[in-house]
Amino acid sequence: MSGAYVNLDDASDPAVTVTFVNRYIALEGGDGSGKSTVSHALAERLKTLGEEVVVVREPGGTPVGEAIRELLLDSDQLDDWAEVFLFAAQRAELAREVIEPALAAGKWVISDRTYYSSIAYQGRARGLGEKEVREINERGLAGAIPDWVFVLDVEPEDALARQHREDRIGREGIGFQEKVRQAYLDLAEGEPDRVIVLPGSMTVEGMVDRIVEVVR
Ligand code: TYD
Repeated sequence: MSGAYVNLDDASDPAVTVTFVNRYIALEGGDGSGKSTVSHALAERLKTLGEEVVVVREPGGTPVGEAIRELLLDSDQLDDWAEVFLFAAQRAELAREVIEPALAAGKWVISDRTYYSSIAYQGRARGLGEKEVREINERGLAGAIPDWVFVLDVEPEDALARQHREDRIGREGIGFQEKVRQAYLDLAEGEPDRVIVLPGSMTVEGMVDRIVEVVR
């Protein structure tokens, strides 16, 4: 989708007033990292700046996606590859039904998790292969990929302690969460223009300030 928007280079041309350019922001992080609090605080901030904002969460966000969420999180057991494809399926549905129309209407989209979760959790922590999981997801997304991915980096021990509700994947434990965390840090190193780490020691307001500063 990014290609459809004004290029950042135009911002240097005084004849073109560009405040915000690409409008699709993802928040990522391990379980209990506080993504949903930051998503909502960021949405409020963008609204006070006069922007229209749609907040979505994965898995879910559409009727089909919410049904798949139940299968993913509440089943007693699930094959690892079935897990990958179910995450990818709800994601393709969300892209077509919600994200693409919102971006086309000039709205901002803030997503609490995206396919970067699948790369970290299924690709790395489950050991299915980051490249493979990325490719499966990008096929279904057909270009609807986030312009920025902000990773809330919290020590798994602290994050798990403040987690409200454990699901099947959240119950995997600390070793699993350590792998997820390292995967995100490696993704940030590999894609520094897209994936940005926000230390968990920052306040919510501090994170929102930083995100707005980056996307402006
Ligand atoms: P979420 O509802 O964001 O839970 P939390 O608030 O605890 O972060 O996500 C549910 C679980 O699903 C969480 O353990 C992360 C996991 N998950 C994956 O393993 N792969 C994915 O692609 C996504 C989107 C989530």
